[in-house]
Amino acid sequence: MECKLKILAILGTRPEVIKLAPVIMELELRPDKFISTVCATAQHREMLDQAIKPFGIEISHDLDIMRPGQDLAQVTARAVDGLSSVIREEQPDIVLVQGDTTTTFCGSLAAFYHKVRVGHVEAGLRTDDKYAPFPEEINRRLVTQIADYHFAPTEYARQSLLDEGIAESAVFMTGNTVIDALLWMRAEVHKKMPELPYGLRESIEGRQTVLVTGHRRESFGEGFENICNAIKEVAETFPEAVFVYPVHLNPNVRGPVDRILSDHKNIHLIGPLAYAPFIWLMDHSDIVLTDSGGVQEEAPALGKPVLVMRDTTERPEGVEAGNAILTGTGREQIVDGLTQLLNNPEKRAAMATVRNPYGDGTAAAKIADILEKCN
Ligand code: UD1
Ligand code: UDP
Repeated sequence: MECKLKILAILGTRPEVIKLAPVIMELELRPDKFISTVCATAQHREMLDQAIKPFGIEISHDLDIMRPGQDLAQVTARAVDGLSSVIREEQPDIVLVQGDTTTTFCGSLAAFYHKVRVGHVEAGLRTDDKYAPFPEEINRRLVTQIADYHFAPTEYARQSLLDEGIAESAVFMTGNTVIDALLWMRAEVHKKMPELPYGLRESIEGRQTVLVTGHRRESFGEGFENICNAIKEVAETFPEAVFVYPVHLNPNVRGPVDRILSDHKNIHLIGPLAYAPFIWLMDHSDIVLTDSGGVQEEAPALGKPVLVMRDTTERPEGVEAGNAILTGTGREQIVDGLTQLLNNPEKRAAMATVRNPYGDGTAAAKIADILEKCN
């Protein structure tokens, strides 16, 4: 009789939840093949809990490591220590990690210490710049060294792994699981209108709407001041447009955002949104202004033009497809990029074609199929 494969999925932050949820749900649909267990480092606390809720995933181990204003070394030390104990106790056959956060790296390292195989979801993203994004570029490179199964979201990512000498037999092109999550959530939102912050729906109705998110560590300080000052300048130039910014809970983000952007009639600063209202809002926006990885991937699938406030991206597919433009983090560059899109409906329309460079919604099933063969 064939043994069931015991899979321990490790997650710590909002995007890891959204991108691993489809895989965990798929494993749970195959109880004859898998025993699925989930460990949260809770590197994020409120944002992790908020993201988990709609998927109804049960967390078996919660390390609760988040501290306000934590630094990278603290997160790393707490996560490796806690994850090592969980892996020792659970004795999984395979540990699954996603992406490039500190939890991702620590999950793979702790698995390696216990000689447990590692599957890396969203493998092969690269900027080739050690400090951008920071620390994610190095996190994902380190995970690549440890992982046994590399689930690449795109052909570009697959090729990057092969170019680095990873064996072709260990690299699988699956698409990005974020598209699975997005398509599922969009269907949910169409069935049932999500609960929105008070007055949000009324304030965007009939107005050009710019959805803003931003949180990258390499932009803290001057970069973030530039981003906020650019948004403020454009909001003043286009008083008829409305800017909605669900602000990340990191104090390095909240500080400048609150100081520079509060008290503007057409800028709505709100807390992090649950996934359902966030997807509703993206679907009802005209332009997305972001430095987020996941949002860069979701916007083309909803046919939204994206301005990426970064100097480099590991997600060139959206730019090549014509949905995204890299603006950089300079104030003038962001002002220019936004002004051109707000002033030019033709340019906006050309970018607003629905495209799926990051996947077709079947990534989780493909990953589960591959894992079945890893027994
Ligand atoms: C982390 C990831 C980043 C990912 C991002 C997604 C690392 C080093 N960074 O960045 O790759 O893109 O998550 O959002 O892994 N906080 C709260 N409540 C929360 C979440 C955060 O208060 O629910 C505050 C805390 O003060 C915390 C701080 O934000 O100390 C920073 O959190 P941390 O996970 O270290 O970094 P992020 O910037 O969120
Ligand atoms: N997201 C959300 N609520 C928000 C902002 C983002 O649910 O208020 C979702 C978004 O749809 C995407 C993911 O969170 O799936 C991106 O997370 P984040 O930008 O924090 O991290 P990154 O993708 O940059 O690592």
